[in-house]
Amino acid sequence: MQKQREHWGSRLGFILAALGSAVGLGTMWKFPYVTGQNGGGLFVLMYVFCTFFIGVPLFVAELLLGRKAQRGVVGTFSLLSNNSVIWKTAGWLGVASSFLIMSFYSVVAGWSLNYVFLSLNQFYLNRSAQEISHVFDVLAASGDITIFWHLLFTAITAAMVYRGVRQGIEYWNKVMTSTLVILLIVLCIYSVTLSGFWQGFDFVFYPDLSKFKASSALEALGLAFFTLSLGQGVMITYGSYMRREDDIPKTAGIVGSMLIVVSMMAAILIFSSIFTFGFGPQEGPGLVFKTLPVVFAQLPGALFISTSFFFLLVFAALTSAMPLVEVVSANFMDLYGWSRHKAVLVTAVGCFSFGIPSALSSTDIVFANWRQIYGKSFFDTINDLVSIWLLPIGGLMISIYIGWFLSREVVYEEFHAGTRLGYLWRPWLFFMRWVVPVGIILIILQTSSVIDVNHLFS
Ligand code: PHE
Repeated sequence: MQKQREHWGSRLGFILAALGSAVGLGTMWKFPYVTGQNGGGLFVLMYVFCTFFIGVPLFVAELLLGRKAQRGVVGTFSLLSNNSVIWKTAGWLGVASSFLIMSFYSVVAGWSLNYVFLSLNQFYLNRSAQEISHVFDVLAASGDITIFWHLLFTAITAAMVYRGVRQGIEYWNKVMTSTLVILLIVLCIYSVTLSGFWQGFDFVFYPDLSKFKASSALEALGLAFFTLSLGQGVMITYGSYMRREDDIPKTAGIVGSMLIVVSMMAAILIFSSIFTFGFGPQEGPGLVFKTLPVVFAQLPGALFISTSFFFLLVFAALTSAMPLVEVVSANFMDLYGWSRHKAVLVTAVGCFSFGIPSALSSTDIVFANWRQIYGKSFFDTINDLVSIWLLPIGGLMISIYIGWFLSREVVYEEFHAGTRLGYLWRPWLFFMRWVVPVGIILIILQTSSVIDVNHLFS
């Protein structure tokens, strides 16, 4: 029995929610350091390309499926495929990925929350550069403190989702995603005054062809996947709250373009800052928590800059975490008739508990021998499991389902409902059937080391 389903209150509300989901730690934390490791401009270009040619078509596909079925991700697959076990499994895979992402995402997001408070207390005063970066190592190694922030972040996310689609998700996205964009613009304008600005700008925009590596192209594709929140049902779930008169292809185009602009602003801000103080671009994952605070401490207006930046990071993380909780809870509501409150509560407690070993992964408190046995920390194991396997496989299944299995008339009709961009139907279908699956299969083979595409080009 289906209850009356809630819908988005406005188009802007939906765009901000979709953008909020996209712009998260992937954009603010991962994109800059991966760009740094892959040589800058050319990688950015590949990222833009992957976003528009593979990400956006799949984004459209997920919204279409959700809007058609008006159910969460498992419900969508079982309804459209007449209960086929394979496709239902694809739905459960999405739920599992969301659950797993949320479990470690909120650990990193919790650290960001901690840095807001640190910045407000001007923790960098009277500390040397080394001491400032060392704060992060100490934090990561402090299990109880990390768990505290992980819990707080999970609780805040759950409290927002608890209020429902319009009053919770849409409302908070309107507040936070718009603040985020404004704050980012202010910080970017500020970064123009820095002496490293042009060096940062060149690094982000100048494509140096001599640095081309085929594997970077696949890395760009994987990142585009993660940032657009694809492959695990977020957009299916968000699509299920859309109405038939909403223009899906146009919305997808707008969200994709805004995501690119925001990513570039974040990268320019970060690289101008670090070049101003002579740091290199290849700092890796510690870039945001270890290098940036050192840089901020030396800037005029450090208190404002540092606090705003970490606020921005927390907002970005919250608006991406909300849909993760929603994917899992919407499923419980659809399949088992649970109330929203019960579903959200159970999901949040589950994600928090499963996240504890990730939060403790730099300590010896639980799974002390995990790294010795499996070669990486528990946190990285879950992160890699999701980014290398589950999301690409989820995306592959969605593209194959919509391109090859779901009845062509249904897809045709849903694609055309509400849009004036009907002429994109043929190219879109071609991409869904061929380009997207082949691209994804290549990423899976490369990241699992079955093939090394760099050999093909050397
Ligand atoms: N898109 C988010 C980010 O860039 C991460 C995310 C992935 C969120 C998948 C939801 C689903 O950080």
